[in-house]
Order: sequence, then C-alpha cells, then structure tokens
Amino acid sequence: MQNVGFIGWRGMVGSVLMDRMQQEQDFAYINPVFFTTSQAGQPAPSFGGKNSGVLKDAFNIDDLKALDIIVTCQGGDYTNEVYPKLRAAGWDGYWIDAASSLRMEKDAIIVLDPVNQHVIRDGLAKGVKTYVGGNCTVSLMLMALGGLFERDLVEWVSVATYQAASGAGAKNMRELLVQMGELRDVVQTDLANPASSILEIERAVTDKMRGDLPIENFGAPLAGSLIPWIDKLLDSGQTKEEWKGFAETNKILGLSDSPIPIDGLCVRIGALRCHSQAFTIKMKQDLPLAEIEQILASHNEWVKVIPNDKESTLRELTPTKVTGTLSVPVGRLRKLNMGPEYLAAFTVGDQLLWGAAEPLRRILRLLVA
Ligand code: HSE
Repeated sequence: MQNVGFIGWRGMVGSVLMDRMQQEQDFAYINPVFFTTSQAGQPAPSFGGKNSGVLKDAFNIDDLKALDIIVTCQGGDYTNEVYPKLRAAGWDGYWIDAASSLRMEKDAIIVLDPVNQHVIRDGLAKGVKTYVGGNCTVSLMLMALGGLFERDLVEWVSVATYQAASGAGAKNMRELLVQMGELRDVVQTDLANPASSILEIERAVTDKMRGDLPIENFGAPLAGSLIPWIDKLLDSGQTKEEWKGFAETNKILGLSDSPIPIDGLCVRIGALRCHSQAFTIKMKQDLPLAEIEQILASHNEWVKVIPNDKESTLRELTPTKVTGTLSVPVGRLRKLNMGPEYLAAFTVGDQLLWGAAEPLRRILRLLVA
C-alpha cells in the first residue's frame, strides 16, 4: 500500500476531501499520513478506521520524502515554499494539489477526469508526477458543457459568473452571514410590522450597507449587493479569475496550441458554496436544440439537463438545490436572437466538490486502486 501524505486536510477544501474519501472508502487503499503546519506531535485523525499515529511537520522535507503521494489543500504559499525544495531533494512521488500555483507549469496536468481522462492517461504514461485541481468555475463549466467541447462544437464562449462566498475562503463565508444578520437586525421591528414603509426599510438597510457593515475580507458589502471583481487585475484588463477561464479550459482540454476563445466577467454574489454561470455559446453548427440537450446530458453521469420552464428551473437550477451534491444541472437552454448558432445556457455547481475536492480525490484513487 502506498504512503499518502495529507496537508491542509482540516481546512474547507481539505474537510470536504476527507468526507468524500470516507464516503467512497478511499482510505482502504492507502496508508494515510497527516501533516500540520503548527501542531506536530499531536494525535493524527483516524479516517476510515486507520490509525495514523501522530501529526508530522508539513515543512520537514525528510518526512515528506518518505511518501509515495502528497495531497495538499494547504494553499499556494505552502506549495511555492515546499514543492521546489522537495523536487530539488530528488523526491519523485506524485504531488496532488488544490492550489493554483503549479497549474500552468509545463510538467503539470490539470485534473478533471470526466472531461480530460485522455490527457491524464497520456500524462501518467509519460511519467508526469504533478496533478493539480482546476479553477472552480472552469471545472464546473466543463462538467456542464463537456459534451459540446468533446464534439468540437464550440467556436467561442462568453460567460458571466455568479460566484459564491466559499470561493474566497471560510472567513468570507462568515463575513457574508454576519453582514446578512446585521442588515436584518437594523430593520427587525419595521419588518415585523406589515404597515411599515418598504422604502423606509430599504433606506435603513442601504444606510447600514454604506455605514459600518464588516467588510475586512470582501472589501465591500456583499449581502444585499454584489462585487463584480474576483482576484487581481492583469494587464489585459481581465481579472485573474477571468483569465483562468481561457487559459485553464484550453489546457484541460489539451487545446493550448489552438485555443477556443473564452472570456467574460466574474462576479461575486451572496451564495454560500455554489458557483453559477450564464453562457452565450457560439456553436460551429446549427444543431437542433433537442440534439444539443442529448449531447450535453450524455457526456458524464453528473450533468443533468433541466427543461427550460419556470417550475423545473426554480426546483432544479439553484444553489439551494445543488449545494452539497455532485450534481451539475445545466438549463435555460435556448437559441438566442443573434442567430441559430447562438446558444444560451445556465449552470450551477458545488464549488467545493467538483470545483475543488472531487477531481483531487479521483486522481488519488486512480493512482492507488
Ligand atoms: N477563485 C475561485 C473564487 C475559487 O474566488 O471563487 C477557487 O477556484
């Protein structure tokens, strides 16, 4: 059995990964070793009924070198510090990473096996040892639209995202909920009185939003509002999140030499852990809608085509429905006024599952089972 080290297993993505690994009995195939950046020597957790002794120091290169596989959800700073030292020390094991630092490296593969199984198999055969999870919006788009890309039907994609607080981190999720609570508290009495003026309630809420709402993490109120900016500005005028949509999608698909144009605007909204995306897709052919739906639905076992009616959409195509599941619904499918080759689509996906932990779990299972 291979020795698999876990770093960052206690954080948000790490915890979701541990849950999924227990559900799928993945621990039965490995000897897990748990690392910490601050509590070395304390008892390790016991997942899947395995005793892993004590926590080891996540910066101890000798302890890391003893592993066959390392899975890290610790973040980019950890990867930037430890990965080069470990490789320089001659470690030749598999590095599986949730952080973005290594994604665009030539010798790294972005994993999303329902979409790029062929790229992963090819990489394994060639001896590639570094496998990185993709950006969440990119992975969720490809899980939803994979059928169209697989059949080379996409000329370009324009996207608007509606990204959940979890993508920014655990502290941001807390901040959003505190903001929501404070906005409600400021009008609690008036809300309970049906005779009160809604415009006065709105004014009190707006005053609060412009006043002393906690915004240390987001930099602006998110509750009752939105933030059309995610990550840092690039020279192109895109945010880095927007740039990833093009660069990572084409790398995942193995199309970096003749990339499909993909661009759009990334927006933070007040959902907790599901990202949503609205697409305008220019197709290479004018296919009947029923055929497009069939192509989308048959691509993988998690995508689900939602009929374009109000009842189905409200029931199936919302973060409320999808949160905590591996289901990737895609709906609002229709041809646009621009012409018969222009398709609208809307998708929702759990940002911590297919958007982060699940592709890592699946490459680990592929390596050990
Ligand atoms: N960058 C994403 C976001 C999450 O801010 O929502 C991680 O892929």
